[in-house]
Amino acid sequence: KTVSVLGVDFSGGQPKAGVDEGPFQMIEFGILDQIKELGWGVEFDGSFPNYKKLVPVEDPDIGNMKHPRAVSNVTRALARHVRDSAMKGNFALSLGGDHSIAIGTVSGTAAVHDDFCLIWIDAHADINPVAETTSGNLHGCPISFLIDGINKSAVPEFEWVKPCLTPDRLVYIGLRDVDIPERRIIKELGIRAFSMHDVDRHGIGKVVEMALDHVNPHRNRPIHLSFDVDALDPTVAPATGTPVRGGLSFREGHYICEAIAETGLLVAMDMVEVNPTLGSDESLLQTVTVGCSLVRCALGETLL
Ligand code: ARG
Ligand code: MN
Ligand code: MN
Ligand code: MN
Repeated sequence: KTVSVLGVDFSGGQPKAGVDEGPFQMIEFGILDQIKELGWGVEFDGSFPNYKKLVPVEDPDIGNMKHPRAVSNVTRALARHVRDSAMKGNFALSLGGDHSIAIGTVSGTAAVHDDFCLIWIDAHADINPVAETTSGNLHGCPISFLIDGINKSAVPEFEWVKPCLTPDRLVYIGLRDVDIPERRIIKELGIRAFSMHDVDRHGIGKVVEMALDHVNPHRNRPIHLSFDVDALDPTVAPATGTPVRGGLSFREGHYICEAIAETGLLVAMDMVEVNPTLGSDESLLQTVTVGCSLVRCALGETLL
C-alpha cells in the first residue's frame, strides 16, 4: 500500500498568513519517514511552492466570499490530484493549508469512491452557505459546496464542484463553535453531529462507534477523514488560526484516528489548519508534533 502525500501550501480560505507553511513543517518534522516506518510506500511531489502558484494576483470578493478564485483554482487542481491518487489505489493524504482545501480533497475522493462517507473532526461545522457566511472566509464553507442545495444560487467560479455528498454520509465530532445558519442546516438536513457535549456525556469510544454506525452502518463504505487540528483543545494544539476552548484531549483525538484506522476502510485524510507562525516556538512544535502523530495513528500506528 502507498500513500500519496499532497502538500497543500494554501492559506486563502482564511485571513491569517502561515497556515500555508503547515505542510513544510510537517514534512520537516519527518512525517514522510514516519509513514514509511509504518510499512507504507510514499509518493510525494516535493516541489514547493506547489498550489500557491495557482493563486491569482487579482481576486476581488464575490458577494461575501473572500479570495474565491484562489480557493477555486487550488481546490480544482487538488481534486484532480486526489482523484488520480485514489485511482491508482493509493491513500490520499492532504497536508494543509486551511480547511477550504476540503472542497478539493473530498471532490477527489468522491470521483473514485462514489459511496464514500465523510467524517469531519472540527470545532467548527464549516458548512456556511456562501450567501450567509459573515466572515467571508471560505474555510468556514467547504461542506456547503459538497452537499446539493445548500448554496442556492450557483457561483460560476465554483461550477466545477459537483455536489457529491448526501447528508446521511456526513458526521461531525468535536463541534463547539457553530454559526446560526450552520445550526439551521444541520437541523434541516438531519446531519448527525457529535459536539463536545456529546463527547463529555458518552465518552469518545461510544461517540466514535455511534458516528461509524451512522455513516457506515454495514462497514462497507470507504471513509474520508477530514481532521481540523482546531478540534483539539488549544492546550494541545495551540498553533491554529481559530482556536476554541473546550476541545478534544490529546488521547481523544488520537483515539478517533486509531478507531477509524481499525475499520480498514480509510482511503483519504486531510490534516489542516496547522499554522506554525502562530504563537511561540514551543506551541509550534507541539502542534506540528500532534498533527503528525494523528496522521500516523490514522495510518495504523498503535500503542502496543
Ligand atoms: N464559522 C466561522 C466562519 O465561518 C469559523 C470557521 C473556522 N473554520 C476552520 N476551518 N477553522 O468563519
Ligand atoms: Mn486579500
Ligand atoms: Mn475548525
Ligand atoms: Mn475546519
